[in-house]
Amino acid sequence: MNIDGRHYRTIWPIGDDAVEAIDQTKLPHRFETVTLRRAEDCARAIHTMIVRGAPLIGATAAYGIALAMREDASDEALDRAHDRLLATRPTAVNLRWALKRMCDRLRNHPRSERAAIAWREAAAICDEDVETCRSIGEHGLKILREAAEKKDGAPLNILTHCNAGWLATVDWGTALAPIYMAHDEGIPTHVWVDETRPRNQGAALTAFELGGHGVPHTIIADNAGGHYMQSGRVDLCIVGTDRVTANGDVANKIGTYLKALAAKDNGVPFYVALPSSTIDWSLASGRDIPIEERSSDEMLKMTGRLPDGSVATVEIAAPGSPGANPAFDVTPARLVTGFITERGVCEASESGLRSLFPPPALRATSPAGGGG
Ligand code: MRU
Repeated sequence: MNIDGRHYRTIWPIGDDAVEAIDQTKLPHRFETVTLRRAEDCARAIHTMIVRGAPLIGATAAYGIALAMREDASDEALDRAHDRLLATRPTAVNLRWALKRMCDRLRNHPRSERAAIAWREAAAICDEDVETCRSIGEHGLKILREAAEKKDGAPLNILTHCNAGWLATVDWGTALAPIYMAHDEGIPTHVWVDETRPRNQGAALTAFELGGHGVPHTIIADNAGGHYMQSGRVDLCIVGTDRVTANGDVANKIGTYLKALAAKDNGVPFYVALPSSTIDWSLASGRDIPIEERSSDEMLKMTGRLPDGSVATVEIAAPGSPGANPAFDVTPARLVTGFITERGVCEASESGLRSLFPPPALRATSPAGGGG
């Protein structure tokens, strides 16, 4: 997508020994990029959320492995880089998926070939992510077209939580991809952007993206979504996800569950957009998803722009009050209207997911091809 008329991905290679990434901790106040030269740089970028969003975390980890292989292509170094990168964030399963793909690809090759193969594989993961998100956008667009037909020319009001736009992926995004496509097609669209406390990914990133693409939007307090749904001002919700379990339960940014409950109570369709790399077939239900606990500083402090343009961090609570900061929650499958994937839209259930992503043994007989 574009920033000030120039096309960017969130991460891109520089030559064959470094990668550049947009520093998301600086947005929306400053546009800065960082250069990642070693696996450790990638691990720190993921942990400190310079890069964030499930698919982008996976892509960055893939480059982390590739950078590690340039320094030392031994099995031990591969294991070390894998373990270090895997430990950065626990909830988004795309991280594990990308690391496994990189390691599986490299193991059976001689050390002398590993650096070049790893570099190409990481680039392939990025390119595939762009295509996957484009397909998610196309499938989601059909839902938006149908919903818009009922609006008689009035804007379609879509609520989203956190940032599942192009900044959370390599390009396009998951939840926002259909919205960009609807907007580009001339469907009048308006997005309610949950601010998404405590890190404000909605206010800081989603609004930045939508504004950059000219999509009408309004930032709302996290607590306002239920009110807007109740008063008929939300036509549908679309969110992203960090992990979907085999039964269709959805881990996503803290607060997603409350939005899904409010949507159910008000008959508002609640869609979750995801690439298949976000499905964790090894977990039967959302009860087993590890939920990341982050520093209470994210709760107790806020960073913003002062009138003179400088950026400052302030404390917002009484000194000494403790805070707790679970970064994700789990929305049960029964609250989800449907999954928007790169292969189409399905019910939020194991059978729904399996209809699009059959297990490997069934691949040869299924028209949908592989998965799982
Ligand atoms: O903590 P974050 O900012 O990495 O959390 C991101 C989200 O929860 C997104 O909604 C999710 O990763 C889906 S991104 C396509």
